[in-house]
Formats: sequence, C-alpha cells, structure tokens
Amino acid sequence: MDTSPKQRPVSTDGMEDLILRLSMARGVEEIMALVRQSARSLTGADGVTFVLRDNDKCYYADEDAIAPLWKGQRFPMETCISGWAMNHAEVVVIEDIYKDNRIPHEAYRPTFVKSLAMAPVREEDPVGAIGAYWAKAECPSAEAIHLLQRIAHSTAVAMTNVALINSLAAAKEEAARARDAMILAMASLAETRDTETGNHIRRTQHYVRALAEALKEHEPYSEHFSDDVIDLLYKSAPLHDIGKVGIPDSILLKPGKLEPEEYEVMKTHAELGRTAIAAAERYMGSTTPFLSLAKEIAHTHHEKWNGTGYPQGLRGEDIPIGGRIMAIADVYDALVSERIYKPAMPHDDAVDLILREAGRHFDPGLVNVFATIAPKFREIHRQFADAA
Ligand SMILES: [Fe+2]
Ligand SMILES: [Fe+2]
Repeated sequence: MDTSPKQRPVSTDGMEDLILRLSMARGVEEIMALVRQSARSLTGADGVTFVLRDNDKCYYADEDAIAPLWKGQRFPMETCISGWAMNHAEVVVIEDIYKDNRIPHEAYRPTFVKSLAMAPVREEDPVGAIGAYWAKAECPSAEAIHLLQRIAHSTAVAMTNVALINSLAAAKEEAARARDAMILAMASLAETRDTETGNHIRRTQHYVRALAEALKEHEPYSEHFSDDVIDLLYKSAPLHDIGKVGIPDSILLKPGKLEPEEYEVMKTHAELGRTAIAAAERYMGSTTPFLSLAKEIAHTHHEKWNGTGYPQGLRGEDIPIGGRIMAIADVYDALVSERIYKPAMPHDDAVDLILREAGRHFDPGLVNVFATIAPKFREIHRQFADAA
C-alpha cells in the first residue's frame, strides 16, 4: 500500500494575487514571506525553499515544508541543485532524487524529499532559486512546474524592483549629503571672509529652527510649519549672507562704522545672494524647495515690516515668512554679540529692543511668538559662543 502523502492538486487561485503583491514588495524579506506563504499551496508541493545566491554559496534563506529542510544553511554552488539551477539558468525537474547524481544524497537523506523542481530567479545572472519538494517520487506535474516558473519569474521582477528602489534611495541619500556639504562649504566661505560671523551662521540656523518650532504651536502659523518645512528652513538659513562673498574686503572687513556709500555697497549682499542661488538653480535646470527658500531668505532678510528695509522695500506680509524669521534671528544675534566697534548687548535689552521694533522692523505676530521662547535664543547664543 502506498503510504506516502498524495500530491495535492495544483491551483492557480491566488497566483494573480501573489503576482500583484510581489510587484508591490519593498524588500527581499517581504518577497520571501510572500513566496513562503503561497508557493506551496499554489504548486501543491510538500515543501518550498527560497534560496539566495551568496557569492559562491547557495543560502537557504527561507522555507515552508511539512518537515524541516535546510533553512539557514549554506552550500557550495557546485554541490547543490539550486546552484545547478542558477549556474545553468534553467529549471531543474528531478522525479527521483536518488537516481540523479547532481543531488547531494547525504543532505537529502534526513528529509522527506523524494522529488523536486528548482527554478532560478532571473534568467540572466540568477540571484536565487525557488525549490519545490515532494515526499513522493514521480512528481511534479507539468502544471506545477509551470506555476513554479511563473512564481520564480514574478519574484525576479520583484527582486529587480527592490534593487532599483534601493539604489534610488542610496542615490537620493548621497545627493542629500552632497547638498548639505555644499551648503556648509558655501556658508563657511562667507564666514571666513566676514569678521562679524564667527559662529553667527550656526547660531542663526538654530534661532530660526527654535522660532519655527514655536510657530508650529501657534495659530495662524501652525499649518505652514510642518517638520519638513522646519528642516528646510534650518538647512537654508546658513546661506542668508552668502552674498557677502561679493563685498570688497575694504568694506566687509572694515573695523568700524561704514560710511553711507560703503553701507550702500554692503546692502547689495542681499541681491548678490539671490543672484548666486538663482545661478545654482539655472545650472540645475530646475529649482528645489531648498534652493528657492534659501534664495528667498538671502534676498529678503533685511526687509522691514514697515517697508523701510532693503533691497526691495517690501512691506508686511509681502515679505516672505522665511525672511521675516531670519530678520529676528539675525538682529538678535548681532545685538547680543560683541563686535570690534561695539560691546555685546545684554539678552534682556536685546529682547526689549526687538519687542519695541514689532510692527516697525519686525512682523508683530512673529515677535509675539519670539517673546515666548526668547530664553531659548539666549541658550543658543551661549552654546555656540564666539571664542574670546
Ligand atoms: Fe545679511
Ligand atoms: Fe547674518
């Protein structure tokens, strides 16, 4: 009497579903889980394995079977049937494993396996293989082999998708790192030429973030300050004075008050900054939220709420909010920092001055919020104090 388990009938139910799910998978683990959950019932096998190519080894990464197979083990490509399937890039069907000398019989003896089919994942340069195993010889059916091949094919597409997604993510991350490095390089270029700066750039960056985070908690600003926007402000703030690289040393480095005509030249740094960042946008062929915000801040951080600022004499809410925030950060820092031509103003006096300038120099709404977090500004100034 034949006591070995009967081969279950194959079923195409769920195949479409599996293909769809595989096409949306975002990682190798997810792909393996999907295959593990459905390959066995689809092919009617008693066990399935998911094998990944690991250089010259076959890694039995996952399985679903009536009894344990080789999950977690690695075998040399040459001694393993999954290695054969990958090396030859073709599906292997073995109706009686003990009659086939490609099979390492020792590794199979402790298992239930009598017959198998192994399909490589990806025809060109296979990255893995999917095995189906039966406890009975003279399996599998042509239909089961066909289904296994379809599963392997969809898995190959999914693996390629995942590889693409990963390389895209890596490229994006690299571009973001390069961008951050360029910003700091550009900002420090402005910093090395300017006696005023010291840690000014770093501090203004933190003031801007502190103020933006507070605005997020206050109406009517909250809806405009998502975490992404705050991060963008934080990253673009260091470029606010980038235009100063275009100011002659005789003016930029002058240890004292500027003459009116010198001051006029100094004021051009806002327009110079805008032009420089606009040039970066042109080289890129498009703008990014980061560049457009950095440009806006560089251009408008010296505008005043009452319209008496420069370079455009914008008034009120015509001044972009990034410029209005930077104005408070920039002025606070200039007030509480010591310069060759002036001592540092105490924090409380600087806060009073900013409160008095609400509606004149500064956006009164922003000043109200600033007043609630002014101690944070003092803390930031202490944390990034200029060397004595
Ligand atoms: Fe400036
Ligand atoms: Fe500044």
